[in-house]
Amino acid sequence: MLNASFRLDPAFTVAPVSRRIFGSFVEHMGRCVYTGIYEPDHPTADADGFRQDVLALTREMGVSLVRYPGGNFVSGYRWEDGIGPREQRPVRRDLAWHSLETNEFGLDEFMRWAGKAGVEVMYALNLGTRGVQEALDVHEYLNQPDRTHLAELRRSNGVDKPYGVKLFCLGNELDGPWQTGHKTAREYGRLAVETARALRTAEPDLQLVAVGSSSSSMPTFATWESEVLEETYDAVDYISAHAYYEPLNGDVASFLASGVDMDHFIDSVVATADSVGARLKSKKKIMVSFDEWNVWRQSDFQSGVTAVDSSEWPIAPRVIEDQYDVTDAVVVGSLLISLLRHSDRVTAACQAQLVNVIAPIRSEAGGPAWRQTIFHPFAITSRLARGQVLRVEPQGPVQETERFGEVPVVDAVATHDPETGEVSVFLVNRHLSEPVTLAVPLAGFELGTFAVTEAWTLTDSDLSATNTAEEPDRVVPVANSGVTVADGVLRLELPPVSWSAIRLTAQ
Ligand code: AHR
Repeated sequence: MLNASFRLDPAFTVAPVSRRIFGSFVEHMGRCVYTGIYEPDHPTADADGFRQDVLALTREMGVSLVRYPGGNFVSGYRWEDGIGPREQRPVRRDLAWHSLETNEFGLDEFMRWAGKAGVEVMYALNLGTRGVQEALDVHEYLNQPDRTHLAELRRSNGVDKPYGVKLFCLGNELDGPWQTGHKTAREYGRLAVETARALRTAEPDLQLVAVGSSSSSMPTFATWESEVLEETYDAVDYISAHAYYEPLNGDVASFLASGVDMDHFIDSVVATADSVGARLKSKKKIMVSFDEWNVWRQSDFQSGVTAVDSSEWPIAPRVIEDQYDVTDAVVVGSLLISLLRHSDRVTAACQAQLVNVIAPIRSEAGGPAWRQTIFHPFAITSRLARGQVLRVEPQGPVQETERFGEVPVVDAVATHDPETGEVSVFLVNRHLSEPVTLAVPLAGFELGTFAVTEAWTLTDSDLSATNTAEEPDRVVPVANSGVTVADGVLRLELPPVSWSAIRLTAQ
């Protein structure tokens, strides 16, 4: 039996929990939009054609922010194709995913869906094939109250009041050679800063995200961030980060330690941004928008892209509909721990994507929608993480991994809401076979004043178990009745390969 411990103290705060880190992502890709959030013929569809079963799951998941409309898709997208009378909207080629885009669902539909889902919108602009003018046009359509051509066009399309979108991505993954309109860091930095300046002339208090590296393994990683921020530092608020994790060559121990890699990635982006800030003698801090992250078996997908003949391009095909298992859910829980731990610098994040495409929610055309395993740690973390993030330093066993060297077996983060007195703790045991007994002295809190009001553990004797349309609740978090607080110490056992969340309420 392994033992671990850490102290919880309300004085050791990192930063307030930013609700924006519980973001998700809707891209015009595969079946995320069509038969995902939108399916007019579905039995649950509302008058707008939105699937209410998917809307209900989106709300239950506690999604706060949704990035739209891409992704690689946005770098060839013409937003104006998706507004106005549907019968006049053109069908276009989507070069990113070798599909046909019907434009039946566009900007006004998405904004309406976002209103019903109760989420903030992060709108990604096309800086691949387009630039300053498109950014100004889409901003005018979204945010100009009236009197101008595009504001009046929106109003004639039935939307009287401006949408008031505040958060814009200045493109997507333009460091990647696969991206339509791929650029060097300097080329991108110049375009991004001019777009940002033009947008701020229209609306000074927008929050703008410059494109960072599409992964930390890109050959240009860090140089890209440095050069982009040298051009854009004063004009942007965020630099983006993207990361997808998977078990490579059956190496589950390294996969379970993906959070260590995410920690290192964030620290490297922050260090790079701060070094640019120091050289510019700026007091401003650039935040990280981790606007694509998840588990994705990407190596399976890359070998599957073969279609090149555009006469065969499908509409809304099944693309990367990864089925998630127990280990994937534990990894997603641990990535959320990493994001929360960095709340002083990561203040926006989007799990990619929301429905069907590497997604926590799955749906079938004309059929059911259900929660994948990875839905659960997201939903519980979003619900319980409140107030201030607390710094914790787990002491305990370590294990060797092939990809990341020696890593702690237990990872954890906590939050404390001074207004309600509630404390939430999020934990992962990465060991493949050993449980860990954990003791957490509640130092700095008044002794004996807490009761355990919720305790959940997600694990399974079959780590490959998944949720399916036939068995949608095969893997769910289970109430953990072994959690106690006595004499100012929280105690519990963490099963091997498990994720847990506990809520303590002041009595
Ligand atoms: O989320 C899937 C894809 O992954 C996005 O379109 C792209 O930005 C990233 O490479």
